Amino acid sequence: MAEDSRERILQLKKDRQAIILAHNYQPAAIQDLADITGDSLELSRQAATTDARVIIFCGVHFMAETAAILNPGKIVILPRSDAGCPMADMITPADLITIKREHPGVPIVTYVNSSAAVKAESTVCCTSANSIKVVESFEDAETVYMTPDQNLAMYTARHTRKRVLYWHGYCPIHHRLRAEDIHLARKEHPEAMVVAHPECRQEVLELADFVKSTSGMLRYAMESSHESFIVATELGILHPMRKQNPAKRFYPAAEFLICPDMKRTNLKDVAFSLETLQPRITVPEHIRVRALGAVERMLTIS
Ligand code: 13P
Ligand code: SF4
Repeated sequence: MAEDSRERILQLKKDRQAIILAHNYQPAAIQDLADITGDSLELSRQAATTDARVIIFCGVHFMAETAAILNPGKIVILPRSDAGCPMADMITPADLITIKREHPGVPIVTYVNSSAAVKAESTVCCTSANSIKVVESFEDAETVYMTPDQNLAMYTARHTRKRVLYWHGYCPIHHRLRAEDIHLARKEHPEAMVVAHPECRQEVLELADFVKSTSGMLRYAMESSHESFIVATELGILHPMRKQNPAKRFYPAAEFLICPDMKRTNLKDVAFSLETLQPRITVPEHIRVRALGAVERMLTIS
């Protein structure tokens, strides 16, 4: 059955001149099917340069929206329209307008995990792979305001000399992980290195040996001479980690690190999307052009 869907998808992909992008947290079958897998920054870059006519974005809504912002002439599909991001929903454009009124002249650095309308009210976007570089790029500003993730903001603040104000959003999956979980995992696997995503709480990051975006963690697992790792991020990443490093061992920092939104997409959804070119993600032009400014500024800096 899965094999049937796979075959059908590959044929339809050719017919439609489509490219399949998948985030590192997607289910294993989707990652294995994708033309390109990556973190938010890599997928944004791919979305900016692809010459495919159709982009099938296996991820969550804000990612497909970013692809639509960068590719107004292309058909951008999110196979599951119900795949959202609770953190992105924790801030609205009206909140941004209030922040700007309260902090005139302060650059607003918005994590790509946000809606197009929120990006449109921001000075620049960032991802977990480039937040430090983006914040440092404001040479004349002593203070920046980061939205919506408090944990990414605090992590970035610890690595720059800027004063970083921030919104109180968080990723419910990463935020649930506590220092206690890391202590427990270390007790079970004392030889393992702890790798963590900056969406985790400070108390978790302080215990980590290495903090990076999902693709940064993948590179580290590959290049490191260590043989075992405790992984403090969404568990979808274990699939590429194990595939790329069959001789190494990877342990979840906690079994609950599963993002239900990232796990919604299945092969049938992708086949249906390619057949019907639905559900399509579009961004109203007056929002798209303003959001594009913030995304392009980020891509120039990083
Ligand atoms: P990165 O893949 O950019 O590290 O982002 C993680 C994430 O939370 C995506 O939802
Ligand atoms: Fe959003 Fe967290 Fe899921 Fe990423 S892992 S999509 S930040 S809820």
